[in-house]
Amino acid sequence: MNLAEYIDGRRDEHLAELCSFLRIPSVSAKTEHKQDVERGARWVADSLRNAGFKTVEIVPTNLHPLVYAESLEAPGKPTVLFYGHYDVQPAEPLELWTTPAFEPAVRDGNLFGRGTADDKGQVHIHLKALESLQKINGKLPVNVKVLIEGEEEVGSVSLWSYVQKNKEKLKADALLVSDTSMLAKGVPSITYGLRGLNYYQIELTGPARDLHSGVYGGAVPNPLTILAELFAKLHDKNSRVNVPGFYDSVATVSKAERKALNALPWKRKEFEKAVGAPGYFGEKGYTIVEQLWTRPTLELNGIWGGYTGEGAKTVIPSKAYAKFSTRLVPDQDPHKIAKLVEKQVRKLLPDTVTCKFEVLSTGKPWSASFQAPIFKKAQSALEKGFGKKAVFIREGGSIPFVTQMHDTFKVPCVLIGFGLPDENAHAPDEHIALENYFGGIKAIAHFYADLATL
Ligand code: BES
Ligand code: MN
Ligand code: MN
Repeated sequence: MNLAEYIDGRRDEHLAELCSFLRIPSVSAKTEHKQDVERGARWVADSLRNAGFKTVEIVPTNLHPLVYAESLEAPGKPTVLFYGHYDVQPAEPLELWTTPAFEPAVRDGNLFGRGTADDKGQVHIHLKALESLQKINGKLPVNVKVLIEGEEEVGSVSLWSYVQKNKEKLKADALLVSDTSMLAKGVPSITYGLRGLNYYQIELTGPARDLHSGVYGGAVPNPLTILAELFAKLHDKNSRVNVPGFYDSVATVSKAERKALNALPWKRKEFEKAVGAPGYFGEKGYTIVEQLWTRPTLELNGIWGGYTGEGAKTVIPSKAYAKFSTRLVPDQDPHKIAKLVEKQVRKLLPDTVTCKFEVLSTGKPWSASFQAPIFKKAQSALEKGFGKKAVFIREGGSIPFVTQMHDTFKVPCVLIGFGLPDENAHAPDEHIALENYFGGIKAIAHFYADLATL
């Protein structure tokens, strides 16, 4: 039996198994889910053992365990490192899910549930591709190392020190990742650029305690108003980030690359449908694709303080808080940017409040050439799974490990995404198209097989 037939014959089995993975609420951000995250790690380890990996380790860290496995039984053949994450984002707001987040359900050719697209479904594609190769040939066609972490959604906090301590062990000829998106349905895609991410939190303090807004209002500073004024000032009228020096080290994207990106079969209509806003915003002088993939941003992610409960409470809050972030592009340095942002925030604030400024995480941007022979292999494998030629895209999201690997080992990083931009990653009703999940297993199995002749 050939590989494609073997895989096609196991669709129901694969799907049922993915559902059991999805039922584990491995939410890395929440302490209450610590045990579930550990269960997620054990599930991945068991699945790797079933796929024929003899060396499988659950590595404890300060936060959540990572899973490492290797199969080095193809002497003389290339070695690849597959990376993914088994942790997921919180499912809240729960009431907006059509069916519960951790009870996977199929509707209209899509599988719904937290982690379907980001990233359990995509990790499972590789697990089943490898298992199928193992079952058919009795061994894997290339040497494979696998690293699946449980902290990606909280900034991969333990990963960097693990990589530094295990350089020899993780060394490979290429990195494979499936944690990104396809440009659109029916358009298999290989991602060669990601934005970096700095995440910040600030706390403003005005009055020493909450005050009656009738007794004191009009004569005291209100930290919530000041916070609103601050964020209103952080963009200019052309939607550029108002932080001096912010754009100084942004690498210019060549004319040829801009042309190639703008010629992709990207549809504004689909973008607008996915967003559903009454109007659009973006940095002047750039197309939407360029804004999303090649330009840095500053986004306010959450703001709180004062009274937000039922009914009215006339209060001037003592404190106001905000979480915000900057997406970064080559060649911005996350640490330099964090300093510039802090300086500007402090400069824009009046001296009627004090400000505590924290940088919660930093991550470098990444963009690389896709000339190495492995990219041709990836393209032809995708063609086998999807019947269409793959395109090369950049994306706006961030995966800290990709930059870390690229900086450390200087090897090709092949990012093959099977999600779609409108599949609600991080949001209610997250889903993955079944055609991409099943097509993905086939394409990825062919890819690993083809790598034997790299
Ligand atoms: N899989 C995403 C990253 C992604 C999404 C890449 C879409 C390309 C397209 C990843 O799980 C993620 O959500 N990363 C976070 C960063 C992390 C440091 C919390 C992100 O991009 O916000
Ligand atoms: Mn992800
Ligand atoms: Mn994510």
